[in-house]
Amino acid sequence: LADMARIGATEKGGVNRPALSREDGLARALLTGWATARGFQVSTDGIGNLYVRRAGSDPTLPPVMTGSHLDSQPTGGRYDGVYGVLAGFEVLEALEDAGAVTRHPVEVVAWTNEEGSRFQPYCMGSALFAGKMDLETVLACTDAKGISVRDALAEAVSLAPPMPVRDFGSPAAAYVEAHIEQGPRLEAEGRTIGVVQGIQGSRWFQVEVTGQEAHAGTTPHGARKDAFQTALKMVNALNDLMHDPDDVIRCTFGRFEVLPGSPNTVPGKVIFTIDFRHPDAGLVRERGDKVAPLLLSLAAPCEVVVKETSTTAPVDFDPAVVDAVRDAAAGLGYSHCDMPSGANHDAKFMAPRCPTGMIFIPCKDGISHNEVEYASPEDCHAGAAVLAETLAKLAG
Ligand code: GLV
Ligand code: MN
Ligand code: MN
Repeated sequence: LADMARIGATEKGGVNRPALSREDGLARALLTGWATARGFQVSTDGIGNLYVRRAGSDPTLPPVMTGSHLDSQPTGGRYDGVYGVLAGFEVLEALEDAGAVTRHPVEVVAWTNEEGSRFQPYCMGSALFAGKMDLETVLACTDAKGISVRDALAEAVSLAPPMPVRDFGSPAAAYVEAHIEQGPRLEAEGRTIGVVQGIQGSRWFQVEVTGQEAHAGTTPHGARKDAFQTALKMVNALNDLMHDPDDVIRCTFGRFEVLPGSPNTVPGKVIFTIDFRHPDAGLVRERGDKVAPLLLSLAAPCEVVVKETSTTAPVDFDPAVVDAVRDAAAGLGYSHCDMPSGANHDAKFMAPRCPTGMIFIPCKDGISHNEVEYASPEDCHAGAAVLAETLAKLAG
């Protein structure tokens, strides 16, 4: 984890490793080197997912899979994503060191662009693997600077040695992902392992408000098409729409760009994002469907374009995998509890594909998507041990 955290290290002790950046490519290369040094098979696919496989005794059986992601938030921590990849790799090494024979292969995946902070939609790699997106559409997506996934991918993958390329959608026997909790519950309750039941639904939108640039000193307010003032009305109305006395709805405006960004020009364009989540499928549908009509009704005198960039319904994990995780935690003597996931994970896209589950470990003060994110070595070890028991059982 410390070696990985050097790639894209920030001054405040975190990591800036955007999806398909040079840093992301270097992280893939580092993992590839570790994997080949241990004699594991590496392969990739059309979106740069990186697969590390330890063979099983029955070559006709599909792999039991595990993994997470190596990309980070722009001011991300050292654990979100990479912990799950390296916990999986640790399991492969432990199986190898123990001379264990599993019937199924065990395969670790570093999925491409889980975060979605640079390129939307999020979870591109797992969604393509699961057949939920179209490769050409994904390759054409661009970041805020106009760089396409296609171009960034070519550069990022070139940093690791060439490796076999496989098709999406190969069979998987099961998928189990380890991750830091990214919230406060495990720490507050003094527990080591979260047995994850499922992931809440989420819808992301990108909103582009177009007005007219004008002189700030001379243009009467009645004659302005101020994109920022219009966007402000929209944000206030969205806060009312998403108001929840029970504090279960999550609604975040994480990116807000005001253009041209000059103190004395009336803003002609605003681009902002909406990240909306809730565990109930009906509410996600009903409230999310109100977003675009509401924004259109508030657009005058500007114009608005609302694009939904990601839509995922809530998922429940497979009871057999959930039980296997719980049994592993109990068998190893770790204090544990059943819990939902508020954060998105690649496991959301794997869940419809094969029996899927997740393992959470605590993170300090519940803080994540922050450079101070921290998980203790003891808890990292506990999560990897639970993952090892779970994978060994599922892989026979
Ligand atoms: C990923 O971290 C997400 O939950 O958006
Ligand atoms: Mn993550
Ligand atoms: Mn994240």
